[in-house]
Amino acid sequence: MRAIEITQPGKPEVLQPCERPLPELKPGEVLIRVHAAGINRPDVLQRLGHYPVPPGASDLPGLEVAGEIVDGELGESGFAKGDMVCALVQGGGYAEYCAAPVAQCLPLPKGLTPVEAASLPETFFTVWSNVFDRAGLSDGETLLVQGGSSGIGVTAIQLASALGHRVFATAGSDEKCRACEELGAERGINYRDEDFVEVVKSLTGGRGVDVVLDMVAGDYVAREIACLADDGRIALIALLGGAKANVDLGQVLRRRLTISGSTLRPRPVAFKAAIARNLRERVWPLIEAGLVKPVVYRVFPLEEAAQAHALMESSAHVGKIVLRVV
Ligand SMILES: NC(=O)c1ccc[n+]([C@@H]2O[C@H](COP(=O)([O-])OP(=O)(O)OC[C@H]3O[C@@H](n4cnc5c(N)ncnc54)[C@H](OP(=O)(O)O)[C@@H]3O)[C@@H](O)[C@H]2O)c1
Repeated sequence: MRAIEITQPGKPEVLQPCERPLPELKPGEVLIRVHAAGINRPDVLQRLGHYPVPPGASDLPGLEVAGEIVDGELGESGFAKGDMVCALVQGGGYAEYCAAPVAQCLPLPKGLTPVEAASLPETFFTVWSNVFDRAGLSDGETLLVQGGSSGIGVTAIQLASALGHRVFATAGSDEKCRACEELGAERGINYRDEDFVEVVKSLTGGRGVDVVLDMVAGDYVAREIACLADDGRIALIALLGGAKANVDLGQVLRRRLTISGSTLRPRPVAFKAAIARNLRERVWPLIEAGLVKPVVYRVFPLEEAAQAHALMESSAHVGKIVLRVV
């Protein structure tokens, strides 16, 4: 099969087309003929050599695909050969064929193209797991999304606002802030010109938000504590601004705050299967009703994975970048 491999750690050009044998299936896996594969920032980290491949996973990049099931163990999944699905995978998405645990497959939402569906799994699994499961965003609570224009950000804004929450989002330009507002954020905050702590406090009457979804960390954590309501929660999913923070733990103690962190990729299939069931039940109907939409910024052919990574690293995009395979 045709695939894209990381020839050595480095710049986007290290992503090169190659020929590889079809993936070997493990128990519980299906073979997907990939129509499209989503790109995520963790793929960039992997290309740079900063994200080791988990044991047993493909060395090829790519954490999400959409395509046709052509082989494998279907078990009690309800899927049949020939079905179109999208799937969260542990690697190997930038290829004509990819192995996926059947429990991590979801049907292509009605009305979506494979390119659109390929843009969903990684960010929807991550946002559901962090915002709703770990941080427990509940009825009537408010959310601040850092990096609102990222693939993760556009998913978090849409999901939380479709489920009835007030959402605020930070982004690096006025244009990106407006895009966040069009997706459902009550207010986009341009972090280059405005202090998100002041804006959030003023918009919540001094109370603060209940949950922060954070991919920046570093200096942001102390400021997030300053704009959290009592019993508030920070869900850390990345450290774009640094891994060290100087925070007042007295605030955490007195105001019963929670700081949690997690990475999705190394979690076991059973953990991801539980998220898949929640997404299918709670989120797929929102997508099929048009209340939550895929936000695909640009599509590249598989062979142009290097250009797609360069675009992601430029941060010019809003939403997702996808590779078309078929
Ligand atoms: N923990 C997990 O399980 C998990 C899973 C998936 C993704 N992630 C992480 O979530 C983050 C978003 O992923 P994605 O695929 O959505 O990426 P993405 O679309 O490339 O978004 C990253 C965004 O972060 C902002 N940014 C970049 N560098 C920054 C910095 N130094 N300080 C502040 N903001 C910065 C940029 O927006 P502006 O131009 O507006 O600043 C950019 O749009 C990544 O860090 C990724 O590694 C974690």
